[in-house]
Amino acid sequence: MLWLSTFVLVLVQLSAAKPLAGKRWDDVAVKHAWVEPPRGWELHSTPPEDHLFDMRIALKQNKLDELISSLFEVSDPTHARYGKHLSKEEVDALVAPHPDSVEAVEAWLEHHGINPADAEFRSAGGEWITIRVSIAQAERMLNTKYGVYHHAASDSYVVRTMEYSLPAELHSHVDVVTPTTYFSTLRSMRATSFVLPQTSSLVGDAESFAADISPLAVPASCGSTVTPACLRAMYNTTSYVPKATATNKLGVAGYLAEFANDADLQTFFQKFRTDAVGGTFSHVQVNGGQNSQTNPGIEANLDIQYTEAISFPTPNIYYSTGGSPPFNQDSNTPTNTNEPYLDWLNFILNQTTIPQTFTTSYGDDEQTVPQDYATTVCNMFAQLGARGSSIMFSSGDSGVGGGDCLTNDGTNRKIFQPAFPASCPFVTTVGGTTRVPEVAVSFSGGGFSRYFAQPSYQAASVAPFLKNLGTKFSGLFNATGRAYPDVSAAANGFQVVIGGRTTSVGGTSASSPTVAGVVALLNDFLISEGKPPLGFLNPLIYSTAKTGFNDITSGSNPGCGQTGFTAGAGWDPVTGLGTPDFLRLQALVG
Ligand SMILES: *[C@@H]1O[C@H](CO)[C@@H](O)[C@H](O)[C@H]1NC(C)=O
Ligand SMILES: *[C@@H]1O[C@H](CO)[C@@H](O)[C@H](O)[C@H]1NC(C)=O
Ligand SMILES: *[C@@H]1O[C@H](CO)[C@@H](O)[C@H](O)[C@H]1NC(C)=O
Repeated sequence: MLWLSTFVLVLVQLSAAKPLAGKRWDDVAVKHAWVEPPRGWELHSTPPEDHLFDMRIALKQNKLDELISSLFEVSDPTHARYGKHLSKEEVDALVAPHPDSVEAVEAWLEHHGINPADAEFRSAGGEWITIRVSIAQAERMLNTKYGVYHHAASDSYVVRTMEYSLPAELHSHVDVVTPTTYFSTLRSMRATSFVLPQTSSLVGDAESFAADISPLAVPASCGSTVTPACLRAMYNTTSYVPKATATNKLGVAGYLAEFANDADLQTFFQKFRTDAVGGTFSHVQVNGGQNSQTNPGIEANLDIQYTEAISFPTPNIYYSTGGSPPFNQDSNTPTNTNEPYLDWLNFILNQTTIPQTFTTSYGDDEQTVPQDYATTVCNMFAQLGARGSSIMFSSGDSGVGGGDCLTNDGTNRKIFQPAFPASCPFVTTVGGTTRVPEVAVSFSGGGFSRYFAQPSYQAASVAPFLKNLGTKFSGLFNATGRAYPDVSAAANGFQVVIGGRTTSVGGTSASSPTVAGVVALLNDFLISEGKPPLGFLNPLIYSTAKTGFNDITSGSNPGCGQTGFTAGAGWDPVTGLGTPDFLRLQALVG
């Protein structure tokens, strides 16, 4: 008996004293691997071994479940915590890693000769560690080979890998390591084919564009030539005058070296919203983002002109997130790793005060984003929501999928192609309509995620659609996945000033800023009444605020060689719950 307990004691001491350096770092397991390089990318060359870059390690968030349940509670209009959004410090505490995770990752870094104290960056919660490494060092750490990959369509080069591994014991401590297998085919959701040179007859008639249009008599011309007056009438914002402009803000996240132009906004106001002439927006540059006023971007101008058109005089901010300089073979200086969502999210989550409304008109095909990466980014949007921001994303411009819609898992099956971040359950995804009265626009992105499960807030709304659909398209989409879009807005024929000239632009890129403008006005109303802003919208809009939307009941979104889904009564994966009616929503949320 005595023997036995002594023996146990010795064993306990031995294991407690086991030095960290003795951990088995050579027992590695694959973290993520591609079967083939993402479509459009090809291996170009081998990067120099001494090329330096910043490796980011996302440590597992210890209280992620609590963050997500807090997000749902503060966003659920029937919950006692509704509107009690979290502070930056509260969110940082929930996303902090467990001390064991920090210890394990730091021991692994030390094993590779990296002093954790030399980290380039640590997020306030400690869940991100960025370290500067050489290619050779990264290849040893991740048991991989990096390559320089070329994307012909955009003529861009990135340093990435087809797969990476981590020591088995780190898998429970690390969510994702980047840059590795996310190649970013990030594209603007503005359908370039819808950019048409404006005819002079439409440009000349400034007076009629600037004039208010009665919501009771929205002219049919608004269905093809969309101006601020059209949208303000269609969505009933014309009569609302913002009051909380000292507190309320609207943010536009821009990528791919797109810059919003100050002079074009003035021209736009002179033509289409004369009461706003002189109104401005702020430029914030993130991680090497630029602001070249000589090079106006179509997407950037569309976004800022239409958020301003609806929300003026609410302060608007355009965030220009760097993606350049591109990889330079001959340079040993660390290059930007070109992972725009992470750069922007890490920047914005580090701010104490953030805009109450955001819009982003960019996305990738979900299958081109590694699932570990997509999950990490999606959870970062949950942080923004928990802090009280509403996040709008365009649903995409390819209906149920563009191109051949083949899977990239080696089986080459044809399936509908959901878009990310549109498919993230913690954002509000915006599809498109056209004409007056509105019908679904055929390119409106919509469908079901293959990564994210259907969140409970939309279960009751999505079920009737699926029941009606029966077995149609079975095998082509994932009926248990997060369904989108959530809502929609006009998407065709937006009059945008670019380089001084008015151009007609379309895409769900136009719909997302439109809905963001309406949401910013709702936030203005709530804040001016001394109430909290709306925050994460989905639990609200699928329940008590459902009747604040105009149900769009015709049209469809073909793609992948299929007829696509059909809009009908209630929620559908073409137009979601419908288009916003500000006055009705104001009464419902007030
Ligand atoms: C909003 O405008 C539409 C016309 O676009 C109109 O039918 C509707 O009644 C308006 N809603 C309210 C609450 O006035
Ligand atoms: C985060 O914010 C703090 C305080 O404003 C600042 O000192 C720090 O540099 C910021 N970090 C990043 C990466 O922006
Ligand atoms: C469908 O979505 C679920 C999440 O609800 C996911 O776990 C599953 O892998 C998906 N299946 C397919 C075939 O995409």
